[in-house]
Amino acid sequence: MIVGRHVLLGVSGGIACYKTCSVVRQLVEAGAEVDVVMTASAAEFVRPVTFEALSGRPVLTSLWQRDQALAHIQLGRESHLIVLAPATANLLARAATGIADDLLTAILLAARVPILAAPAMNDAMYAHPATSSNIATLAQRGWTFVGPVTGPLAEGPSERPGRMAEPELIFAHIERRLRAPDSSLCDKRVLVTAGPTREWIDPVRVITNPSSGRMGFAVAAAAFARGADVTLISGPARVPAPAGLAMVPVETTAEMLDAVGDRLPETDVLVMAAAPADYRPSQVAAAKLPRADGPLELELEPTADILGSTAARRRKGSIAVGFALETGDEVARARAKLERKQLDLIVLNSALEAGSGFESDTNRTTFISSSSITELPLLNKREVAERLLDAVEAML
Ligand code: CTP
Repeated sequence: MIVGRHVLLGVSGGIACYKTCSVVRQLVEAGAEVDVVMTASAAEFVRPVTFEALSGRPVLTSLWQRDQALAHIQLGRESHLIVLAPATANLLARAATGIADDLLTAILLAARVPILAAPAMNDAMYAHPATSSNIATLAQRGWTFVGPVTGPLAEGPSERPGRMAEPELIFAHIERRLRAPDSSLCDKRVLVTAGPTREWIDPVRVITNPSSGRMGFAVAAAAFARGADVTLISGPARVPAPAGLAMVPVETTAEMLDAVGDRLPETDVLVMAAAPADYRPSQVAAAKLPRADGPLELELEPTADILGSTAARRRKGSIAVGFALETGDEVARARAKLERKQLDLIVLNSALEAGSGFESDTNRTTFISSSSITELPLLNKREVAERLLDAVEAML
Protein backbone atom coordinates (compact mmCIF):
# COMPACT_ATOMS: atom_id res chain seq x y z
CA MET A 1 0.00 0.00 0.00
CA ILE A 2 2.98 2.30 0.37
CA VAL A 3 4.96 0.48 -2.30
CA GLY A 4 7.57 2.69 -3.91
CA ARG A 5 7.02 5.55 -1.45
CA HIS A 6 10.24 7.12 -0.32
CA VAL A 7 10.72 7.82 3.37
CA LEU A 8 13.68 9.64 4.83
CA LEU A 9 14.06 8.42 8.38
CA GLY A 10 16.14 10.67 10.64
CA VAL A 11 17.41 9.03 13.82
CA SER A 12 18.72 11.18 16.67
CA GLY A 13 20.51 10.03 19.78
CA GLY A 14 18.22 8.49 22.38
CA ILE A 15 17.88 5.01 23.77
CA ALA A 16 14.62 4.62 21.79
CA CYS A 17 16.84 4.20 18.67
CA TYR A 18 16.63 0.46 19.10
CA LYS A 19 12.86 0.62 18.55
CA THR A 20 13.38 2.58 15.34
CA CYS A 21 14.90 -0.57 13.83
CA SER A 22 11.43 -2.11 13.94
CA VAL A 23 9.90 0.94 12.21
CA VAL A 24 12.39 0.50 9.35
CA ARG A 25 11.55 -3.17 9.10
CA GLN A 26 7.80 -2.52 8.92
CA LEU A 27 8.29 0.18 6.27
CA VAL A 28 10.46 -2.07 4.12
CA GLU A 29 8.00 -4.95 4.47
CA ALA A 30 5.23 -2.60 3.30
CA GLY A 31 7.25 -1.82 0.18
CA ALA A 32 8.61 1.64 1.06
CA GLU A 33 12.12 2.79 0.19
CA VAL A 34 13.83 4.00 3.31
CA ASP A 35 16.92 6.18 3.55
CA VAL A 36 18.22 6.37 7.10
CA VAL A 37 20.15 9.42 8.27
CA MET A 38 21.70 9.23 11.74
CA THR A 39 23.13 11.89 13.99
CA ALA A 40 26.52 11.22 15.58
CA SER A 41 24.90 10.46 18.94
CA ALA A 42 22.38 8.06 17.35
CA ALA A 43 25.34 6.11 15.96
CA GLU A 44 26.59 5.72 19.57
CA PHE A 45 23.37 3.82 20.42
CA VAL A 46 22.85 1.70 17.30
CA ARG A 47 25.54 1.12 14.70
CA PRO A 48 24.72 2.36 11.18
CA VAL A 49 25.31 -1.13 9.80
CA THR A 50 22.15 -2.31 11.60
CA PHE A 51 20.00 0.22 9.75
CA GLU A 52 21.90 -0.52 6.55
CA ALA A 53 20.98 -4.20 6.80
CA LEU A 54 17.33 -3.40 7.60
CA SER A 55 16.83 -0.75 4.90
CA GLY A 56 19.06 -2.37 2.27
CA ARG A 57 20.50 1.07 1.51
CA PRO A 58 23.58 3.00 2.65
CA VAL A 59 23.11 4.95 5.87
CA LEU A 60 24.21 8.57 5.92
CA THR A 61 25.76 10.03 9.03
CA SER A 62 27.79 13.07 8.00
CA LEU A 63 27.79 16.08 5.70
CA TRP A 64 31.33 15.09 4.80
CA GLN A 65 30.66 11.57 3.50
CA ARG A 66 32.30 10.89 0.10
CA ASP A 67 30.08 11.46 -2.97
CA GLN A 68 27.34 12.90 -0.76
CA ALA A 69 28.09 16.60 -1.16
CA LEU A 70 24.49 17.47 -2.10
CA ALA A 71 22.74 14.78 -0.09
CA HIS A 72 21.37 17.32 2.38
CA ILE A 73 19.57 19.18 -0.41
CA GLN A 74 18.45 16.21 -2.51
CA LEU A 75 17.27 13.80 0.18
CA GLY A 76 14.96 16.30 1.82
CA ARG A 77 13.33 17.11 -1.48
CA GLU A 78 13.11 13.76 -3.20
CA SER A 79 11.41 11.87 -0.37
CA HIS A 80 7.64 11.83 0.16
CA LEU A 81 7.94 12.16 3.91
CA ILE A 82 10.59 12.81 6.53
CA VAL A 83 10.19 10.90 9.77
CA LEU A 84 12.21 11.68 12.89
CA ALA A 85 12.30 8.79 15.34
CA PRO A 86 13.39 9.28 17.97
CA ALA A 87 13.31 13.07 17.87
CA THR A 88 15.32 14.15 20.91
CA ALA A 89 14.86 17.46 22.74
CA ASN A 90 18.14 18.60 21.23
CA LEU A 91 17.07 17.75 17.66
CA LEU A 92 13.76 19.58 18.11
CA ALA A 93 15.58 22.61 19.54
CA ARG A 94 18.03 22.74 16.66
CA ALA A 95 15.24 22.29 14.09
CA ALA A 96 13.08 24.98 15.71
CA THR A 97 15.89 27.53 15.64
CA GLY A 98 17.10 26.62 12.16
CA ILE A 99 20.51 25.38 13.23
CA ALA A 100 22.03 23.15 10.56
CA ASP A 101 25.23 21.86 12.11
CA ASP A 102 25.05 18.24 10.95
CA LEU A 103 23.60 16.30 8.03
CA LEU A 104 20.17 15.65 9.57
CA THR A 105 19.50 19.25 10.61
CA ALA A 106 20.83 20.52 7.26
CA ILE A 107 18.31 18.21 5.54
CA LEU A 108 15.51 19.58 7.73
CA LEU A 109 16.40 23.15 6.85
CA ALA A 110 16.43 22.40 3.12
CA ALA A 111 13.38 20.11 3.11
CA ARG A 112 10.13 20.94 1.33
CA VAL A 113 8.21 17.78 2.27
CA PRO A 114 5.96 16.90 5.25
CA ILE A 115 7.73 16.06 8.50
CA LEU A 116 6.45 13.65 11.16
CA ALA A 117 8.32 13.51 14.47
CA ALA A 118 8.21 10.94 17.29
CA PRO A 119 9.70 12.77 20.28
CA ALA A 120 11.52 10.79 22.97
CA MET A 121 13.25 12.23 25.97
CA ASN A 122 13.39 12.34 29.73
CA ASP A 123 10.00 13.46 31.13
CA ALA A 124 11.47 16.63 32.71
CA MET A 125 13.06 17.61 29.39
CA TYR A 126 9.70 17.10 27.66
CA ALA A 127 7.91 19.19 30.30
CA HIS A 128 10.46 22.03 30.03
CA PRO A 129 8.98 25.22 28.53
CA ALA A 130 11.83 25.37 26.01
CA THR A 131 10.78 22.00 24.56
CA SER A 132 7.07 22.92 24.61
CA SER A 133 7.75 26.12 22.72
CA ASN A 134 10.01 24.36 20.20
CA ILE A 135 7.28 21.81 19.54
CA ALA A 136 4.67 24.57 19.20
CA THR A 137 6.92 26.40 16.71
CA LEU A 138 7.45 23.28 14.64
CA ALA A 139 3.74 22.39 14.73
CA GLN A 140 2.96 25.87 13.46
CA ARG A 141 5.30 25.22 10.55
CA GLY A 142 3.29 22.12 9.67
CA TRP A 143 5.20 19.38 11.48
CA THR A 144 3.03 16.62 12.91
CA PHE A 145 3.85 14.60 15.99
CA VAL A 146 3.17 11.10 17.24
CA GLY A 147 3.67 10.73 20.98
CA PRO A 148 5.48 10.92 23.27
CA VAL A 149 3.54 8.53 25.48
CA THR A 150 3.67 7.68 29.15
CA GLY A 151 5.43 4.52 30.29
CA PRO A 152 8.81 3.37 31.55
CA LEU A 153 11.73 5.64 30.61
CA ALA A 154 15.43 4.70 30.54
CA GLU A 155 15.87 5.93 34.11
CA GLY A 156 12.80 4.20 35.51
CA PRO A 157 9.01 4.35 35.61
CA SER A 158 7.28 7.64 34.91
CA GLU A 159 3.69 8.78 34.96
CA ARG A 160 4.52 11.65 32.64
CA PRO A 161 5.01 11.59 28.87
CA GLY A 162 8.49 11.26 27.39
CA ARG A 163 8.68 7.75 26.01
CA MET A 164 8.73 7.30 22.24
CA ALA A 165 5.49 5.95 20.73
CA GLU A 166 5.65 2.24 19.91
CA PRO A 167 6.90 1.32 16.41
CA GLU A 168 3.46 0.02 15.34
CA LEU A 169 1.91 3.39 16.16
CA ILE A 170 4.66 5.30 14.37
CA PHE A 171 4.22 3.04 11.34
CA ALA A 172 0.42 3.58 11.38
CA HIS A 173 0.94 7.37 11.34
CA ILE A 174 3.54 7.15 8.55
CA GLU A 175 1.17 5.08 6.44
CA ARG A 176 -1.64 7.57 7.09
CA ARG A 177 0.53 10.55 6.10
CA LEU A 178 1.55 8.80 2.89
CA ARG A 179 -1.87 7.48 1.87
CA ALA A 180 -4.41 10.04 3.07
CA PRO A 181 -3.78 12.59 0.28
CA ASP A 182 -4.86 10.02 -2.34
CA SER A 183 -7.97 8.77 -0.53
CA SER A 184 -11.54 10.03 -0.73
CA LEU A 185 -11.94 8.69 2.83
CA CYS A 186 -9.53 11.34 4.13
CA ASP A 187 -11.31 13.29 6.91
CA LYS A 188 -14.50 11.25 6.44
CA ARG A 189 -16.08 9.96 9.65
CA VAL A 190 -15.98 6.19 9.61
CA LEU A 191 -17.72 4.15 12.30
CA VAL A 192 -16.63 0.53 12.61
CA THR A 193 -18.01 -2.11 14.96
CA ALA A 194 -16.04 -5.23 15.85
CA GLY A 195 -16.02 -8.31 17.99
CA PRO A 196 -18.77 -10.29 19.67
CA THR A 197 -21.16 -9.03 22.31
CA ARG A 198 -22.01 -10.83 25.51
CA GLU A 199 -25.38 -11.43 27.17
CA TRP A 200 -25.48 -12.44 30.82
CA ILE A 201 -27.35 -15.54 31.96
CA ASP A 202 -26.39 -15.16 35.61
CA PRO A 203 -23.51 -13.33 37.36
CA VAL A 204 -20.90 -15.80 36.06
CA ARG A 205 -22.22 -17.11 32.72
CA VAL A 206 -22.70 -15.49 29.33
CA ILE A 207 -24.05 -16.20 25.85
CA THR A 208 -21.57 -15.08 23.19
CA ASN A 209 -19.96 -16.24 19.93
CA PRO A 210 -16.41 -16.92 18.71
CA SER A 211 -15.90 -13.59 16.89
CA SER A 212 -12.28 -12.51 17.52
CA GLY A 213 -12.61 -8.85 16.46
CA ARG A 214 -9.95 -9.23 13.74
CA MET A 215 -12.11 -8.30 10.74
CA GLY A 216 -13.49 -5.10 12.29
CA PHE A 217 -10.07 -4.12 13.60
CA ALA A 218 -8.61 -4.60 10.12
CA VAL A 219 -11.29 -2.32 8.64
CA ALA A 220 -10.65 0.32 11.32
CA ALA A 221 -6.87 0.19 10.77
CA ALA A 222 -7.26 0.40 6.98
CA ALA A 223 -9.62 3.39 7.31
CA PHE A 224 -7.13 5.12 9.64
CA ALA A 225 -4.38 4.52 7.06
CA ARG A 226 -6.56 6.32 4.48
CA GLY A 227 -6.84 9.39 6.68
CA ALA A 228 -10.36 8.78 7.97
CA ASP A 229 -11.59 9.99 11.33
CA VAL A 230 -12.26 6.52 12.75
CA THR A 231 -14.41 5.49 15.69
CA LEU A 232 -14.14 1.86 16.67
CA ILE A 233 -16.86 0.32 18.83
CA SER A 234 -15.94 -3.14 20.03
CA GLY A 235 -17.33 -5.89 22.18
CA PRO A 236 -14.95 -8.09 24.18
CA ALA A 237 -12.52 -9.03 21.39
CA ARG A 238 -9.78 -11.59 21.69
CA VAL A 239 -7.00 -9.72 19.91
CA PRO A 240 -5.55 -6.31 20.75
CA ALA A 241 -7.11 -3.28 19.04
CA PRO A 242 -5.04 -1.55 16.33
CA ALA A 243 -2.41 0.96 17.46
CA GLY A 244 -3.58 4.51 17.90
CA LEU A 245 -7.32 4.06 17.55
CA ALA A 246 -9.58 5.29 20.31
CA MET A 247 -11.90 2.41 21.06
CA VAL A 248 -15.35 2.57 22.64
CA PRO A 249 -15.70 -0.68 24.58
CA VAL A 250 -19.16 -2.20 24.93
CA GLU A 251 -20.40 -5.48 26.28
CA THR A 252 -23.99 -6.25 25.32
CA THR A 253 -25.88 -5.82 22.04
CA ALA A 254 -28.03 -3.13 23.70
CA GLU A 255 -24.86 -1.18 24.63
CA MET A 256 -23.55 -1.50 21.07
CA LEU A 257 -26.93 -0.30 19.75
CA ASP A 258 -26.70 2.84 21.93
CA ALA A 259 -23.04 3.50 21.06
CA VAL A 260 -23.78 3.24 17.32
CA GLY A 261 -26.96 5.33 17.63
CA ASP A 262 -25.10 8.13 19.46
CA ARG A 263 -22.60 8.52 16.63
CA LEU A 264 -24.87 7.89 13.66
CA PRO A 265 -25.74 11.53 12.91
CA GLU A 266 -22.07 12.34 12.18
CA THR A 267 -21.20 9.10 10.39
CA ASP A 268 -20.25 9.12 6.70
CA VAL A 269 -19.45 5.42 6.49
CA LEU A 270 -20.79 2.71 8.80
CA VAL A 271 -19.15 -0.73 8.71
CA MET A 272 -20.88 -3.26 10.95
CA ALA A 273 -18.26 -6.00 11.22
CA ALA A 274 -19.32 -6.95 14.75
CA ALA A 275 -21.11 -10.19 15.51
CA PRO A 276 -23.64 -8.99 18.09
CA ALA A 277 -25.32 -11.73 20.10
CA ASP A 278 -28.71 -12.28 18.47
CA TYR A 279 -30.43 -13.58 21.61
CA ARG A 280 -30.36 -12.74 25.26
CA PRO A 281 -31.98 -14.44 28.26
CA SER A 282 -35.41 -12.95 28.95
CA GLN A 283 -34.44 -12.85 32.63
CA VAL A 284 -30.93 -12.46 34.04
CA ALA A 285 -30.67 -14.55 37.21
CA ALA A 286 -29.50 -12.48 40.17
CA ALA A 287 -27.57 -15.39 41.70
CA LYS A 288 -25.48 -18.14 40.11
CA LEU A 289 -27.74 -20.94 38.85
CA PRO A 290 -26.58 -24.11 40.65
CA ARG A 291 -25.73 -27.06 38.41
CA ALA A 292 -26.99 -29.37 41.13
CA ASP A 293 -30.51 -28.20 40.27
CA GLY A 294 -30.31 -30.39 37.13
CA PRO A 295 -31.32 -29.47 33.55
CA LEU A 296 -31.75 -25.78 32.89
CA GLU A 297 -34.24 -24.23 30.55
CA LEU A 298 -33.49 -20.74 29.33
CA GLU A 299 -35.98 -18.52 27.61
CA LEU A 300 -34.19 -16.34 25.06
CA GLU A 301 -35.47 -13.23 23.36
CA PRO A 302 -34.04 -11.66 20.21
CA THR A 303 -31.83 -8.61 20.67
CA ALA A 304 -32.21 -5.47 18.57
CA ASP A 305 -31.01 -5.53 14.96
CA ILE A 306 -28.46 -2.72 15.24
CA LEU A 307 -27.72 -2.30 11.54
CA GLY A 308 -31.36 -2.62 10.51
CA SER A 309 -32.37 -0.01 13.08
CA THR A 310 -29.96 2.55 11.58
CA ALA A 311 -31.57 2.42 8.12
CA ALA A 312 -34.05 5.23 8.70
CA ARG A 313 -31.62 7.40 10.65
CA ARG A 314 -28.46 7.37 8.54
CA ARG A 315 -27.13 10.61 7.09
CA LYS A 316 -28.17 11.29 3.53
CA GLY A 317 -25.39 10.16 1.19
CA SER A 318 -23.71 8.02 3.83
CA ILE A 319 -22.63 4.46 3.10
CA ALA A 320 -23.61 1.41 5.15
CA VAL A 321 -21.77 -1.90 4.93
CA GLY A 322 -22.82 -5.11 6.64
CA PHE A 323 -21.37 -8.58 6.94
CA ALA A 324 -23.16 -11.88 6.59
CA LEU A 325 -21.96 -15.23 7.78
CA GLU A 326 -24.23 -17.78 6.18
CA THR A 327 -24.75 -21.43 5.51
CA GLY A 328 -27.10 -22.93 2.89
CA ASP A 329 -28.20 -20.65 0.05
CA GLU A 330 -25.63 -18.06 1.03
CA VAL A 331 -25.91 -15.51 -1.79
CA ALA A 332 -29.71 -15.38 -1.69
CA ARG A 333 -29.68 -14.98 2.09
CA ALA A 334 -27.04 -12.23 1.94
CA ARG A 335 -28.98 -10.42 -0.80
CA ALA A 336 -32.11 -10.53 1.33
CA LYS A 337 -30.14 -8.98 4.22
CA LEU A 338 -28.75 -6.27 1.92
CA GLU A 339 -32.31 -5.26 1.10
CA ARG A 340 -33.84 -5.73 4.52
CA LYS A 341 -31.17 -3.63 6.24
CA GLN A 342 -30.96 -1.15 3.31
CA LEU A 343 -27.22 -1.55 2.81
CA ASP A 344 -24.93 -0.32 0.06
CA LEU A 345 -22.74 -3.40 0.35
CA ILE A 346 -22.78 -6.71 2.16
CA VAL A 347 -19.69 -8.84 2.64
CA LEU A 348 -20.60 -12.49 2.61
CA ASN A 349 -18.35 -15.07 4.16
CA SER A 350 -19.00 -18.71 4.38
CA ALA A 351 -19.38 -20.17 7.85
CA LEU A 352 -18.25 -23.57 6.66
CA GLU A 353 -15.15 -22.80 4.59
CA ALA A 354 -11.70 -23.57 6.08
CA GLY A 355 -9.53 -20.45 6.52
CA SER A 356 -12.57 -18.19 6.61
CA GLY A 357 -14.83 -16.66 9.22
CA PHE A 358 -14.59 -16.12 12.94
CA GLU A 359 -11.27 -17.34 14.28
CA SER A 360 -9.13 -17.17 11.20
CA ASP A 361 -6.59 -14.58 9.95
CA THR A 362 -7.96 -14.95 6.45
CA ASN A 363 -11.36 -14.70 4.80
CA ARG A 364 -12.89 -15.82 1.54
CA THR A 365 -15.55 -13.26 0.80
CA THR A 366 -18.09 -12.21 -1.80
CA PHE A 367 -19.01 -8.54 -2.08
CA ILE A 368 -22.67 -8.06 -2.94
CA SER A 369 -24.34 -4.77 -3.81
CA SER A 370 -27.69 -4.19 -5.47
CA SER A 371 -26.01 -4.15 -8.88
CA SER A 372 -22.96 -6.39 -8.58
CA ILE A 373 -21.51 -9.50 -7.08
CA THR A 374 -17.73 -9.97 -6.77
CA GLU A 375 -16.06 -13.11 -5.49
CA LEU A 376 -12.69 -12.48 -3.89
CA PRO A 377 -9.95 -15.07 -3.38
CA LEU A 378 -8.78 -16.16 0.09
CA LEU A 379 -7.12 -13.02 1.48
CA ASN A 380 -5.86 -11.96 4.86
CA LYS A 381 -8.35 -9.80 6.73
CA ARG A 382 -6.38 -6.59 6.20
CA GLU A 383 -6.51 -7.20 2.44
CA VAL A 384 -10.25 -7.85 2.63
CA ALA A 385 -10.56 -4.57 4.55
CA GLU A 386 -8.61 -2.70 1.87
CA ARG A 387 -10.85 -4.12 -0.89
CA LEU A 388 -13.92 -3.23 1.13
CA LEU A 389 -12.74 0.37 1.48
CA ASP A 390 -11.87 0.52 -2.23
CA ALA A 391 -15.51 -0.43 -2.88
CA VAL A 392 -16.71 2.22 -0.40
CA GLU A 393 -14.52 4.88 -2.03
CA ALA A 394 -15.97 3.98 -5.41
CA MET A 395 -19.48 4.55 -4.01
CA LEU A 396 -18.75 7.76 -2.09
N1 CTP B 1 -26.17 -7.29 13.08
C1 CTP B 1 -26.70 -6.24 13.82
N2 CTP B 1 -27.40 -6.50 14.95
C2 CTP B 1 -27.64 -7.77 15.34
C3 CTP B 1 -27.14 -8.84 14.58
C4 CTP B 1 -26.41 -8.56 13.46
O1 CTP B 1 -26.48 -5.10 13.46
N3 CTP B 1 -28.33 -8.00 16.44
C5 CTP B 1 -25.39 -6.96 11.87
C6 CTP B 1 -24.05 -7.66 11.79
O2 CTP B 1 -23.03 -6.85 12.32
C7 CTP B 1 -23.86 -7.85 10.31
C8 CTP B 1 -25.28 -7.97 9.77
O3 CTP B 1 -26.13 -7.40 10.77
O4 CTP B 1 -23.26 -6.74 9.69
C9 CTP B 1 -25.72 -9.36 9.50
O5 CTP B 1 -25.57 -10.13 10.65
P1 CTP B 1 -26.30 -11.53 10.79
O6 CTP B 1 -26.06 -12.07 12.15
O7 CTP B 1 -25.92 -12.37 9.62
O8 CTP B 1 -27.80 -11.04 10.59
P2 CTP B 1 -29.09 -11.20 11.42
O9 CTP B 1 -29.86 -9.94 11.23
O10 CTP B 1 -28.82 -11.65 12.82
O11 CTP B 1 -29.85 -12.32 10.58
P3 CTP B 1 -30.10 -13.89 10.85
O12 CTP B 1 -29.62 -14.22 12.24
O13 CTP B 1 -31.57 -14.01 10.69
O14 CTP B 1 -29.32 -14.60 9.78
